[in-house]
Amino acid sequence: MSALPASADKVRYALPAIALHWLIALLIIGMLCLGYYMADIPKSIPGRAVYFNLHKSLGVLAGALILLRLGWRLAYPPPAPPRGISRPMARAAQWSHGLLYLCMVLQPATGYLSSSFNKYGVRLFGLALPKWAWEDKHLRELFMAYHQLIAIAFIALIAIHVLAACKHVLIDRDRIFGRMLP
Ligand code: HEM
Ligand code: HEM
Repeated sequence: MSALPASADKVRYALPAIALHWLIALLIIGMLCLGYYMADIPKSIPGRAVYFNLHKSLGVLAGALILLRLGWRLAYPPPAPPRGISRPMARAAQWSHGLLYLCMVLQPATGYLSSSFNKYGVRLFGLALPKWAWEDKHLRELFMAYHQLIAIAFIALIAIHVLAACKHVLIDRDRIFGRMLP
């Protein structure tokens, strides 16, 4: 298995990419917890809508930050894998990062679409966003089913991602984790 060039050893992600990675990671983990928590609140509880509106607002915010991050990623490619990482491992990391990006886009998009086909629409911290969709129970439920499925895939991918990061710190003791620190 051929290793990657030594020139790739000392680099790290750029500061904006690092800041966006940690901010978005925090938001997504919070949103997953909030999503499952609020879905269990009975409809009869008066404060239920507060959680739903908070989830929608933070979800739209996360979606905007994710688009910003993708834009940054396209303009400034990430550093090459460090020396000592075999090509199959580097390829596996590339694939898992690609799938994480896919979930990062699809999760807020399906939530937004589902809520848009709801009579309540989407409010961003109290401000009603333009309403372009109509009330459609079938589409609302379809997009929500995707939203729920993607959440499960997302959790599995995040778990693998965090375990891989821990392996780099505790077992391999290489520089991978440091590349995502300022
Ligand atoms: C990073 C973004 C997001 C994450 C991680 C996320 C995660 C989740 C999760 C885990 C659930 C619970 C699923 C279940 O019960 O099986 C959920 C439900 C929900 N999400 Fe999101 N979500 C995100 C963005 C959004 C956005 C942008 C909207 C709308 C603008 C939205 C609207 C909803 C709604 C309305 C539900 C509740 C469905 C119900 O129980 O009736 N989500 N979300
Ligand atoms: C919701 C949570 C998270 C998501 C969606 C996420 C997503 C990503 C993505 C897409 C990348 C690749 C960046 C790129 O090449 O553009 C990445 C890199 C990285 N993430 Fe996360 N991440 C999350 C949480 C975490 C956590 C909790 C840790 C640490 C325990 C972590 C550690 C890292 C490290 C060290 C890298 C750099 C890997 C490298 O140098 O190739 N991430 N993350």
